[in-house]
Amino acid sequence: MALESREIHLARRPEGMPKEDEFKLVTRNVAEPGDGQVLVKNLYMSVDPAMRPRLSVGQELNEAMGGGAIGRVEKSRNPAFAEGELVNNRFGFREWFVSDGKGLSKLTPEPDLPLTVHMHVLGGTGFTAYGGLLHIGQLKDGEQVFVSTAAGAVGSVAAQIAKIKGCYVVGSTGSDDKVAWLKDEVGLDAAINYKAEPIRQALKAVTPKGLDVYFDNVGGEHLDAALAVMNSLGRVAVCGMISGYNSAGARTTVHNLSNIIYGRINIRGFVAPDFMHLYDQFKSDMAGWLRDGRVKYQETVFEGIDQAPAALIGLLNGVNSGKMLVKLAD
Ligand SMILES: NC(=O)c1ccc[n+]([C@@H]2O[C@H](COP(=O)([O-])OP(=O)(O)OC[C@H]3O[C@@H](n4cnc5c(N)ncnc54)[C@H](OP(=O)(O)O)[C@@H]3O)[C@@H](O)[C@H]2O)c1
Repeated sequence: MALESREIHLARRPEGMPKEDEFKLVTRNVAEPGDGQVLVKNLYMSVDPAMRPRLSVGQELNEAMGGGAIGRVEKSRNPAFAEGELVNNRFGFREWFVSDGKGLSKLTPEPDLPLTVHMHVLGGTGFTAYGGLLHIGQLKDGEQVFVSTAAGAVGSVAAQIAKIKGCYVVGSTGSDDKVAWLKDEVGLDAAINYKAEPIRQALKAVTPKGLDVYFDNVGGEHLDAALAVMNSLGRVAVCGMISGYNSAGARTTVHNLSNIIYGRINIRGFVAPDFMHLYDQFKSDMAGWLRDGRVKYQETVFEGIDQAPAALIGLLNGVNSGKMLVKLAD
C-alpha cells in the first residue's frame, strides 16, 4: 500500500486574524524515492509570525504550505544522505516528503541538548536575536535596552543576551504569566504587560535613563513608545512588526519618527542572512550559555499535523510561551 502523508493547504485568504476553516487537511500518496532522491519523515515543524503575511501574498491556494522543519531520512537513494540522518528543511506543514536533496541541510544535534533547541534558541530565532542585538543594534555592555515580545522565541533570547552583557533590560509581553517569567525566571529589570497598561506610559515609567537600544519585534505603538524615550545616538534594530501582520494596508501609524533627527537615532531593519559571519561564534556562545543555564527557554508544542493551523492562529494570539512548535512524529 502506498505511503500516505497529511499536509496543510491554504483554502481561502484570511482577512485579519486567520480562522481554522481557511485551512484544510489533505491526504496525499507519497511516491517511492527514485534515483538521487530521499524520503524524509518530518519530526517537528516551526510556526513563525512571518507565515501570516504569506497567507495574504505569496502562499498559493490549495497547495501545501511551507516552513522550517526537522525531519529524518527514512529511505535514501542519494549518496549524500544516509538513512537515519536528521535534516533541516523548508517542507513544514506536511508529514512526509520526497526530495532530491536540494534545500536539505544536515543537522548534527548537540548530544546533551534536546533536539528541539536546534529549532529556536540554538537555531534560527536564537541567531536572529544574537546578530540583531549585537551586530545590528551594536549593543555595548551596560546599556539601557528594551525588547518587545520578550517572552517569545526571538525576544526571550535577545533580552537574555542583553542581561549577559550587563545591560538594564526592559521587556514587553501580553500576559501577567509571561511578565512573571521574565521577572522571576529570566531576571529582567522590568517587564510590561502591554495589554494591561498603555505601552507608552509604562515604558517611560521604567526607563529613567532612557533607551540606547530597542530590539523591535512589534512595530506600531511599541516603536512609537520606544522612540519617545530613545537616548541620543540610540539604535533601533527592527526585527519584526507583528502588530501589523494581520492588517496589511492598515498598519498602526508611528508618530515619533521626527525624534530620530536631533537624537541621531539609527533605525535599521535586518534579516538573519545579513550576519552569517557571526554564525560559528553564535553557536559556540549560545551552546555555552544554554549549558550553564544563563539562557533559559520555553516551548509551546502542539501535537499532530492537524493542529498546525491552530498553532499558527495561537501564535498570532500570543498563546505561546517561547517557541511555537508542532510535533509531527517521534
Ligand atoms: N528579521 C528576521 O530575520 C526575523 C526572524 C524571525 C522572527 N522575526 C520577527 O520576530 C518577531 C518575533 O518572532 P518569534 O518567532 O520570536 O515569535 P514569538 O515572539 O515567539 O511569537 C509571537 C508573539 O508575538 C506577540 N504578539 C502577537 N500579536 C501582537 C501584537 N499585536 N502586539 C504585540 N505583540 C504581539 C505574542 O506574544 P505576547 O503574549 O507577548 O503578545 C506572540 O506570542 C516577529 O515580529 C517576527 O516576524 C524576524
